[in-house]
Amino acid sequence: MSIFRKKPIEAILKESGNKTVTPTMNTIDLILFGIAAIVGGGILVLTGVASSKAGPSVIFSFLIAGIACGLAALCYAEMASAVPSSGSTYTYTYLSMGEFVAHSIGWILIGGYVLTSATVANGWSKYFVSLLSGFGIDIPEQFTKLPADGGYGNIPALCVVLLMTFIVSKGTKSSKTTNNILAAVKIGIVVLFVVVGAFYVEPTNWTANFAPAGVEGVMLGATTVFFAYLGFDAISTSAEETINPQKSLPRAIIITILICTAFYVIVCLVLTGMIPYERLGIGNALAFALNEVGQTKVAGMISAGAVVGLMAGVLSFIYASVKITYTMARDGLLPKQLTKVNNKEIPSILTWGLGILTALLSGFLPLGQLAELANVASIISFAIVSYAIIVFRKSNPEAKRGFKVPAVPLIPIISIVLFLALLYSVTATTWLICLVWFVLGSIVYFTYSKNNSKLISKK
Ligand code: ALA
Repeated sequence: MSIFRKKPIEAILKESGNKTVTPTMNTIDLILFGIAAIVGGGILVLTGVASSKAGPSVIFSFLIAGIACGLAALCYAEMASAVPSSGSTYTYTYLSMGEFVAHSIGWILIGGYVLTSATVANGWSKYFVSLLSGFGIDIPEQFTKLPADGGYGNIPALCVVLLMTFIVSKGTKSSKTTNNILAAVKIGIVVLFVVVGAFYVEPTNWTANFAPAGVEGVMLGATTVFFAYLGFDAISTSAEETINPQKSLPRAIIITILICTAFYVIVCLVLTGMIPYERLGIGNALAFALNEVGQTKVAGMISAGAVVGLMAGVLSFIYASVKITYTMARDGLLPKQLTKVNNKEIPSILTWGLGILTALLSGFLPLGQLAELANVASIISFAIVSYAIIVFRKSNPEAKRGFKVPAVPLIPIISIVLFLALLYSVTATTWLICLVWFVLGSIVYFTYSKNNSKLISKK
């Protein structure tokens, strides 16, 4: 049936072989690129919220989310080593599970990237407001509160998204140097926090009530902090710019997840050791903790670093949403008007459309709701990639792979089970929104994409 038609691996390899850029990235560049994409709102903003639920046992939340992502990362690594294409999950699904599933995943990814960007922008505003107040400038509360709470919306978040959209629309791609600087800023914030904060750790904060909400609290925390790992799949989108993708991609993906998990666990140990967990349920927990122990200058430095680092996060996820939408439109699965580029080769109408949507979401939805939606979108797409490995092993046994997931199908199955466990605590509202988005996507597929797919002419 045509909805299950698959894009042949040869066609994908040919597309990615027609490189328009000279490959320059090696494994270290990819790891730094990964750290720049991954470390952000999750550790800087959501950690406090998760710690207030799980207490110091939040370190297990990070470990569980890290293991789930690590197993999925192995699957990404095999896929990326066999199919080094910038379409990532969407492309893997197109070749292994067919067009309708690929369209649905692409559609979910567009939503996921838009929501991730909106979440990071929303969290950015917390550090921005606290940084300004450090300079004696106080933004009136109505400009950061949602209309439901008597405010005008999160105006700083809305503005930063529009600013980042403007930058993307000017064709500013993040260069290797910018990425490396951003990775350094992010590593710097984490190390600074740990080194200074460690002196203020009171072990009784850990021992008094290590897991106040038991296993349920740990799992609830894991669903929240899952966000902190989003972006590792971005490494596989650099396939076409990588010198030796079959070796470098899998190595970089796995090493990046390990480094980030280690960072996150250490930050949480220090944070929950410094301040009793009940007081951490705020947006800018790292700066708050340092302020509480009197390290106001260091808190200011962390806020400044977070403001720069999180802006980069907003930009890169807007860029990712544009890239995936553009790729789908190029394949004929979304209206071809979306591929219309300006004289600088930028799909500016598409960029502004997605940017404005992101801005509205970040300005008018609460942080928790945004993060939950972004997490669900990513969990579904990671689970699909894990499943795709099982299918891909059967459908393309002879494809050249630089890396092979050990113990297939056991590892992909464990990863899928862990993802299902993470979805357990997702609220009914979030499921409803996801369902509406999925139905919209299916309508687009059956009324447009099915009849306009580029694969039709290739049959
Ligand atoms: N992992 C990214 C962050 O935490 C999305 O900001």
